[in-house]
Amino acid sequence: MSHSPTVLALQGISKRFPGVQALDDINLSLRAGEVHALLGENGAGKSTLMKILSGIERPDQGQILLAGRECRFDSYRDARAAGVGMVFQEFSLIPDLDAVDNLFLGRYPRNRWARLDRRQMLAQAREMFGSLGVDMPLEVPVARLSVAMQQFVEIAKALSLQARILVLDEPTATLTPQEARRLFGLMRRLQAQQVAMVFISHHLDEIFEVCDQVSVLRDGRNAGHARVADTSVDELVRMMVGRQVAQSYPPRQAGGDAGRPVLEVSGIQLAPEGPVNAFELREGEILGFAGLVGSGRSELALGLIGAGPVHAKQVRIDGRPRALRSPAEALACGVGLLPENRKAQGLLTEFSIRFNISVNQLRRFSRHGLLRRRAETQACEAVCRRLGVKAGNIEARVGTLSGGNQQKVVIARWLSQACKVLIFDEPTRGIDVGAKAEIYALMRELTQTGVAIILISSELPEIVGLSDRVAVFAAGRIVCTLVGPEIQATELLRHAARGTAT
Ligand SMILES: Nc1ncnc2c1ncn2[C@@H]1O[C@H](COP(=O)(O)OP(=O)(O)OP(=O)(O)O)[C@@H](O)[C@H]1O
Ligand SMILES: [Mg+2]
Repeated sequence: MSHSPTVLALQGISKRFPGVQALDDINLSLRAGEVHALLGENGAGKSTLMKILSGIERPDQGQILLAGRECRFDSYRDARAAGVGMVFQEFSLIPDLDAVDNLFLGRYPRNRWARLDRRQMLAQAREMFGSLGVDMPLEVPVARLSVAMQQFVEIAKALSLQARILVLDEPTATLTPQEARRLFGLMRRLQAQQVAMVFISHHLDEIFEVCDQVSVLRDGRNAGHARVADTSVDELVRMMVGRQVAQSYPPRQAGGDAGRPVLEVSGIQLAPEGPVNAFELREGEILGFAGLVGSGRSELALGLIGAGPVHAKQVRIDGRPRALRSPAEALACGVGLLPENRKAQGLLTEFSIRFNISVNQLRRFSRHGLLRRRAETQACEAVCRRLGVKAGNIEARVGTLSGGNQQKVVIARWLSQACKVLIFDEPTRGIDVGAKAEIYALMRELTQTGVAIILISSELPEIVGLSDRVAVFAAGRIVCTLVGPEIQATELLRHAARGTAT
């Protein structure tokens, strides 16, 4: 590998945005057939560097050398023509178009009468998703697909460019471990064809699974480089954060004595013929929802708060029957949900961090109709500091934050919310290692004030490390509830596989 030619050299790249030096004299080089991990905390400059490589942002200083020749890209189109493809962290899909149209946008194949060749497009699309091992609904607007499916369209779109250099900006953030493995298989095939790849991820175990080289950015500067075979998770974390981070989970409830039920759900049924489920959530506990993708965890949560279809449900909050016909009604009853698809559902990117955090709780910060601005400011600043939201100040527009920092803002909103019941769906996707530990600690602190939390996560260590009890889902049904010492990865997997084994 070390004898492969250098296909790309980024030299002395600097980039400033108003109020922030995003990149400061960065160097990075890439060889043919190499998978190069690019690591760094949220806001370290990873996406900005890759946007410069793909012609979307222009550097203030520095050069891009492709196969030794200096290039200047004024647009993504220029970069694409030079063989650079990119899977964007913020998807580049057109929501109203289907997967096929998104795949071929701007470069439709024509038949010999110069007409759009839809048949050929369909065939190529089918082949592409086939090689990814994904059963993609091809002719539905992508807006109606799950986030994971949208991610696969985004990936397929970049792959279909036949790029020599492929940038993957957090492609696995919205994928389950199983889905990620399929992508890795494909990356290995591309590698055999001498494609060079830059791979960005906050899952450090993935780096050891698919990457050869790793470079780390910290606050817009080069913070280290290593061969993956010669480094360790601890060393990478140190390079990223500049200190040791304890990846431990906060201690569980002392005594484990069950509190009184705050939320009692019975007879919840998402479809007329579907399974009927029941569960309860107790004061001060974290109840994990574990299961494979499509096992019904998110659907049940959405149905519960009236944000998704439900055939029947009986809900009691603090012992009183409640209808929960809409998310607003749920919120009024003290039940909030941090959705899985935060990009679409959570954020007002044109507004400030302050507004995005306090948007649901203006009442809490008002007295006699006046907004208590000081209290609001202090609360927002405190939670941003703890989560390490990287921004000039809380008046910054959320749209100018890095992907991970935008997610921290939505999480901050719900963490500082006066809810009795909080449902977190995949809360740490795209979040860097240091901030993850803070989010876990904040969740535990909330439970100590009596808040009850439902945690939906595809990351088993997270479920195992945080939950007081775990409801395991398989094929739309809660197959069992594990408590205390029963909460172990192997047990969870055994029960989660039950629904699919038959
Ligand atoms: N268009 C912009 N306007 C102003 N500031 C920006 C803009 N784009 C990025 N920044 C800032 O540049 C810095 C680097 O952001 P970047 O998106 O490159 O981070 P990142 O390493 O990709 O982080 P993440 O892991 O969260 O995706 C951040 O401080 C961000 O707020
Ligand atoms: Mg990014």
